[in-house]
Amino acid sequence: MSAGEFVPIGVSLVGLRQAAVSCRGCRLAAQDGVRTVFSAGDPLARLALVGEQPGDVEDRRGIPFVGPAGQLLDRALADAGIPRADVYVTNAVKHFRFRQEAPGTRRIHVTPDLEHLEACKPWLLAELGIVDPAVVVLLGATAVRSLLGPELRVTRDRGRLIPRPTWPDEPARVHLAWWLITTHPSAVLRTPDRDAAYAALVADLRVATAALTG
Ligand code: URA
Ligand code: SF4
Repeated sequence: MSAGEFVPIGVSLVGLRQAAVSCRGCRLAAQDGVRTVFSAGDPLARLALVGEQPGDVEDRRGIPFVGPAGQLLDRALADAGIPRADVYVTNAVKHFRFRQEAPGTRRIHVTPDLEHLEACKPWLLAELGIVDPAVVVLLGATAVRSLLGPELRVTRDRGRLIPRPTWPDEPARVHLAWWLITTHPSAVLRTPDRDAAYAALVADLRVATAALTG
C-alpha cells in the first residue's frame, strides 16, 4: 500500500492538502475517528521541519505540532531566532497511530512502522518539492528513517549540515541544499535533564538558521 496513487501531479500545496484528506494509502486512515493532519506554516519557507506523526491533540485540531511537543518546539524556534510562522512544519506520517484500551479511553501513541513511513513518503516528497526549502530539519529518528534511511543516527549525526540525498523517485523540482538532524521535542520532554536537552535542540536549530543566512 502507498499514498502514491492519491498524490496529484502538478498541483499547488493547497491541491496536495485537499487530496490528502481522502488518502487511503495505508491502514492508519481506517482507525476510528482520525483525520489527515497535513502541514502548517509558510508555504514559501526556506526552513522546513519534519516530525514523526500527529499526536492526539494534533489529530483533534487537524494541525501538526500544536500539543505539548509543539509548544516546546515553538519556544525552541523562537530561541533559535526564527518564529514558528516563518517555517514550514510537517510530519513523516500524516495520520495519528494509536492504541486504546477501550473506546472513549485515552489514545496512546504508537510509533509508525516502516510500512507506514514508506506508504506516506510520497506526500512528504511532493510537499517538499513544492515548498523547496533551503534546509530541512529532521526531528527525531522516525523522520530520519523516512527520509535518510537507517544509516544515520540522531545521537551520532545530529547538529551538522548534511548534503541532501537523492532518491530514485524524487520530484524534479526538489533542489533543497541541506538536511539537519536533531532530537524530537517529545524526547526533550521525556529526558531527565530537560534543560540540557532543550539547549541542545536550540543549538541545533541555530545551525539550521545560520545556514539560511550564511
Ligand atoms: N509529534 C510529531 O512528531 N508531530 C506532531 O505533529 C506532534 C507531535
Ligand atoms: Fe495516507 Fe499517510 Fe494517512 Fe497512510 S498515514 S493513510 S499514507 S496520509
